[in-house]
Amino acid sequence: MKKFWSIAVILIVALFLTACSETTTTEAPQENNNASTSLGTNLTTPEDISSIAVIEAISAEWALTGHASTDGPLNSAGTRDGCQPCHSGNGFLQHLSDNPYTPQADEEAGEEVELPMTMDCATCHTGAGQEMLLTGVTEGYVPFVDGAYEAGKETALCISCHNGRRDTVDMYEQWASGEGQPTDYPHYDAGALYSGMGGIEYPDVEYANSVGHQLLGCVGCHMPETEEGYVSHNFSMDIADIEASCGSCHSNTSDFSVGGNLQAELDELLEELHDAAVAAVDGAAAIGMSRLTFPFVDAAGEPVDIEKVSKEAFVAAYNYYLVYSDKSGGAHNPKYAKSLLQESLWKLQ
Ligand code: HEC
Ligand code: HEC
Ligand code: HEC
Ligand code: HEC
Ligand code: HEC
Repeated sequence: MKKFWSIAVILIVALFLTACSETTTTEAPQENNNASTSLGTNLTTPEDISSIAVIEAISAEWALTGHASTDGPLNSAGTRDGCQPCHSGNGFLQHLSDNPYTPQADEEAGEEVELPMTMDCATCHTGAGQEMLLTGVTEGYVPFVDGAYEAGKETALCISCHNGRRDTVDMYEQWASGEGQPTDYPHYDAGALYSGMGGIEYPDVEYANSVGHQLLGCVGCHMPETEEGYVSHNFSMDIADIEASCGSCHSNTSDFSVGGNLQAELDELLEELHDAAVAAVDGAAAIGMSRLTFPFVDAAGEPVDIEKVSKEAFVAAYNYYLVYSDKSGGAHNPKYAKSLLQESLWKLQ
């Protein structure tokens, strides 16, 4: 069933559907036939007709997701250097190409500025995105991995944007060598946790990993197959799909905590780590949970002088933020989440 999808057909039909959404739907079949003839594709067999229905369904799902949103952060981060590769479709597609998307430079040069595009069908199904879906390899997109990263076909594309945005290996080395004290917070880190590699790690420690979940990849959980037989493009986990996403390993489960108490366990560890990290920094009252206040604030909510922060306290604050802000209740990698918090705690004691 999957094999007959040609990406060219998908895109042509998707573009066509967008174009004719303004016209009356009753005329659609006639126009579809015209389109297929004029574009030289063959959309006349029953499978092709049903494929149009599928693409319509996928397009409708996609349109309601954050990837399709034309508000912030697309209209702010989508045109900013350093942000646009993950926050605009054209930024992602042209990233690392001979023709990168450079709206800021174009504006400064007085040239016409191309608008940022949403993360649409073309972002994921053409160019570098399509390549990642086919090979499962991403290179140059995931900052905490050097060189080619075999993340898997179900993961490489998603983790190229959803990775926390930090080279945590380099950050650790800078703190450890005394070369620098980079204080970047983890920026939306699903993939950092999922991969079991994106926290700040101590080089002498082996961290645990939930291998079962890594077999699924992002697509395995977030894009389950629908009853109609195509993969869902809602991206957000829908509780209605829990059987398709989780049921093959966790039977009779009705919520994403799979009946366990992982989140409660993590909350306890988080609290312990928070208290230990704060106690290790002179004048600190809390871990700062925003770009401007990270890593520590005093009782008045003002950032604490970074010179007072030890390597161990920084590592603790980073990993605290990472697990705290992950929105999966730990499901992205239960064992790594626990292990990262525990090891951070032990190094403080
Ligand atoms: C080009 C970068 C990029 C790629 C590739 C990408 N995402 Fe996203 N994703 C984003 C951004 C940016 C947001 C936030 C959008 C917003 O809030 O407007 C987001 C939002 C989300 C959300 C939050 C829910 C929502 O609708 O906003 C989920 C879940 C998600 N993505 C899953 C995935 C999965 C699964 C994949 C791989 C199939 C993927 N993403 C690929 C950049 C990307
Ligand atoms: C490595 C990819 C990457 C880079 C680079 C990046 N972001 Fe993001 N950003 C994401 C992803 C992925 C999400 C959303 C994930 C989610 O919903 O969990 C996000 C979310 C956001 C949000 C929150 C959106 C919301 O709906 O809550 C803002 C604001 C934002 N980013 C701004 C920026 C800015 C500004 C920059 C540049 C200084 C930047 N980002 C660079 C990947 C990136
Ligand atoms: C391929 C099999 C497989 C699938 C599918 C799967 N899991 Fe798991 N999951 C496991 C295994 C094995 C463990 C226990 C060991 C570990 O953490 O690796 C586990 C552990 C967990 C835990 C931790 C339980 C605890 O109390 O420590 C949670 C939570 C969880 N899974 C949630 C989910 C959710 C939510 C889904 C669906 C979105 C899902 N899993 C799908 C294999 C799977
Ligand atoms: C084992 C299943 C599983 C895997 C694998 C998985 N996720 Fe998730 N993810 C979840 C669950 C469960 C949630 C929480 C959903 C909820 O509570 O509604 C979640 C939440 C998220 C969110 C926040 C959702 C939102 O709507 O804001 C993002 C973003 C996300 N995942 C991205 C990813 C990416 C990217 C990957 C791969 C790098 C990935 N996930 C792999 C199960 C998984
Ligand atoms: C964020 C990335 C992303 C976006 C955006 C996206 N897709 Fe997909 N799509 C995927 C992934 C991942 C798969 C599953 C892997 C595969 O089949 O290559 C997939 C699969 C498909 C399939 C095959 C379905 C099946 O089960 O056989 C079709 C058709 C498709 N997408 C159409 C579209 C259309 C049309 C759009 C735009 C409305 C779109 N996609 C937007 C990531 C994306």
